[in-house]
Amino acid sequence: MTATDSAPDTASDAGRERFDAIIAADERIEPRDHMPDDYRKTLVRQIAQHAHSEIIGMQPEGNWITRAPSLKRKAVLIAKVQDEAGHGLYLYSAAESLGVDRTDLLDLLHQGRQRYSSIFNYPTLTWADVGAIGWLVDGAAITNQVPLCRCSYGPYARAMVRICKEESFHQRQGFESLYVLARGTDAQRAMAQDAVNRWYWPSLMMFGPPDAESPHSAQSMAWKIKRFSNDELRQKFVDIIAPQADALGLTLPDPDLRWNPERGHYDYGPIDWEEFTQVLKGNGPCNRQRLAHRRAAHDSGAWVREAARAHAAKRAARAQREAA
Ligand SMILES: [Fe+2]
Ligand SMILES: [Fe+2]
Repeated sequence: MTATDSAPDTASDAGRERFDAIIAADERIEPRDHMPDDYRKTLVRQIAQHAHSEIIGMQPEGNWITRAPSLKRKAVLIAKVQDEAGHGLYLYSAAESLGVDRTDLLDLLHQGRQRYSSIFNYPTLTWADVGAIGWLVDGAAITNQVPLCRCSYGPYARAMVRICKEESFHQRQGFESLYVLARGTDAQRAMAQDAVNRWYWPSLMMFGPPDAESPHSAQSMAWKIKRFSNDELRQKFVDIIAPQADALGLTLPDPDLRWNPERGHYDYGPIDWEEFTQVLKGNGPCNRQRLAHRRAAHDSGAWVREAARAHAAKRAARAQREAA
């Protein structure tokens, strides 16, 4: 671990100066560099929460793999859900570069002591939800994550570059799936509209609480972990999806949504933050189900981890014998 800020000595003073200089020059902090303890802790919390969101996020859509309406849709959905598992792996690796162990992070998730994105606590009721998630949830994720490609911590920033490319495919497949439904039968069109009605507001909540109630944001901006505030990102997202909804021929469920020529942005109605708080507290429709499923998946994978450990020990012993 690094020397703490509260114990100044020549080495840590020099380390701190170097850290400040790297941040000021908009360069990257690497695992070997000195970093303040709070910077490290903030990153561990953020990257772990992000990694957890990726693997929990496999569940709502995984629910539809066996019921996808065609072979093409099934193949696309399997690829997408696999991508999310991969995103989790990149991110747990990035977190490990900060000196934590992924086993401990998974324990914290399973004990409910570390969070994942609240959006995954909503159910996927119909096939159209898969399209709405791709378009709105992956779309919101991209808006949030593109600026993270320029995050000051190197391993996180680099992981985000690949993740964003894959998220872009996720968003497009969602849009295309909704586009087809919106031009299908009346029932398909109604199903697409209903899914958008249910996912729209939760997707706006993905950007987190309003700036005035987001206490960690200022520090994260100063450290260049975060580049835009929650409200700035939310506005960016609304500006992107409002015209896309028109192209889909679907409506967004907000009577206050309209273009404001003076601001050069879409205005949108008030968000129900009470609902957000309830879901965050664990009272969303699927909180318990998601965690129970995750724990069960982890337990049933115990033999794989055990076999991998035995295999690694065997290889290490062989390498040692050959070196002797
Ligand atoms: Fe992802
Ligand atoms: Fe995704």
